[in-house]
Amino acid sequence: MRRSYRPPTLGLATILSIVTACSAYAGSADQQEFTLIEQGRYLSILSDCGGCHTAPGGRPFAGGRPIETPFGSIVAPNITPDLETGIGAWTDDQFDAALRRGIGWNGAHLYPAMPYNAYTRMSRDDALAIRAYLSSLDPVRQSRNPNTLPFPFNVRKLMAVWNKLYFAAREYEPDQKRSPEWNRGKFIVDGPAHCGACHTPKTMLGGDRTDQYLQGANLQGWSAPDITNSTRTGLGSWTAEDVALYLKTGHNRLSAATGPMAEAVEQSTSRMTDADTMAIATYLKSLPGKAEESRGSASVEGNMMAAGGAIYRDQCSACHGLEGKGVEHLFPSLSGSAMVRSDDPTTVIRMLLRGARSASTDAEPTAAGMPSYGWQLDDRQIADVLNYVRNSWGARSPAIEARDVTRVRAETASRAD
Ligand code: HEC
Ligand code: HEC
Ligand code: HEC
Repeated sequence: MRRSYRPPTLGLATILSIVTACSAYAGSADQQEFTLIEQGRYLSILSDCGGCHTAPGGRPFAGGRPIETPFGSIVAPNITPDLETGIGAWTDDQFDAALRRGIGWNGAHLYPAMPYNAYTRMSRDDALAIRAYLSSLDPVRQSRNPNTLPFPFNVRKLMAVWNKLYFAAREYEPDQKRSPEWNRGKFIVDGPAHCGACHTPKTMLGGDRTDQYLQGANLQGWSAPDITNSTRTGLGSWTAEDVALYLKTGHNRLSAATGPMAEAVEQSTSRMTDADTMAIATYLKSLPGKAEESRGSASVEGNMMAAGGAIYRDQCSACHGLEGKGVEHLFPSLSGSAMVRSDDPTTVIRMLLRGARSASTDAEPTAAGMPSYGWQLDDRQIADVLNYVRNSWGARSPAIEARDVTRVRAETASRAD
């Protein structure tokens, strides 16, 4: 009988549990707010808001960084919650309209250097989470600089025309025939991470050439390679794990991220969850890309190959290997690199002229550097050695002419980065 005895219902344990439940209830609004801010913080990493809205050496999100476009540079404004110089006084609706539709607080159009045409894939809830996160930051007082776009692009009204041509407000709709992972990847690539802003070729007015989605584009002084699964110019020889590792660390057995991509890795992709970098990889590997035949421009002749091969053995093979395979974690493979074989050779030429130091991330803090050959080799020799690496070890790519090197030399001469 004793064993069936039960303590009175309000025992210590019960009281304690009621107290905890009450305080949890009282704290739940804070808890929700905290979760919302965390969600917004992560979305702002996916979107790399800080990358553009922070001046070099400046306070985070306080603006002042000029963003280059084909038409001139546009300064990214202060988006801290400062009431006068930031966005502290904006309503949620105004913030949402700026982020997802490119409408500024006074109704004027924003320039698409702010990637609202990608952010439109996010939901209003996503936008409000980002807002909650930005509102949790310290306000910074820093007013905006005047923009420097030349006429006629300094006329904001023209952006209404641009929007008609190139913009459609559209939230991401999952494709039910695909896996949740694939859908997550596509959402991140097309939405917050705006990969197409750099990797999709643009029209003369800076709109996306949607028929060449993610097939590689020329930026100011850089080319962003094809990141579809195309075997010749894209990521065909990369496994999904290679792609995820590159996004996470800035390096893998095939390539290393430099320039604008090193920034994207440092600020954004290296801080994504492993599940998200893998989702991006899964999605990119599903894209067929362009038809496989080479664009058949001038072919590389035997004598160029011989001259290039001699320079390669002399100057390059010590690090990249006679077979172009490189050394894992130190020197990237040239035989597997899509960037090397890219139809648009701007980035490889530039790397040879200027050298490169790739992304440094927590996972791989010190990165090896690629020496610069701009002084050592003339334009003809640089074209020759590149033609050699672009047409050896089973690859075939359009020939680079000495004048292509001259052009990139001129384009990059006046630039510090
Ligand atoms: C690729 C660079 C880039 C990225 C990434 C970017 N922005 Fe911007 N943003 C800009 C530029 C440039 C402008 C100014 C556009 C203009 O003046 O028309 C701008 C304008 C804005 C404005 C309007 C502010 C004002 O005072 O008019 C807001 C709000 C804003 N961005 C928020 C964000 C948020 C939030 C993110 C991340 C989700 C983000 N931006 C990511 C470049 C960027
Ligand atoms: C600000 C412009 C920019 C953005 C945004 C950007 N990239 Fe890049 N990306 C580049 C440039 C430029 C290169 C070439 C530089 C290099 O290979 O070192 C590159 C290289 C790459 C490569 C290596 C390809 C190869 O063959 O070596 C991959 C993979 C890649 N990007 C994926 C992405 C993904 C995925 C996103 C979106 C999450 C993204 N990039 C966003 C500019 C950008
Ligand atoms: C001292 C070692 C060293 C030498 C010599 C060297 N490289 Fe590199 N190279 C590197 C490193 C390290 C990288 C990766 C740099 C980065 O992205 O930060 C690299 C990157 C490259 C890339 C870009 C590959 C990719 O997909 O990202 C190309 C192309 C390249 N080198 C070509 C050459 C050529 C051609 C020569 C000879 C003229 C040469 N390299 C000589 C170390 C070297």
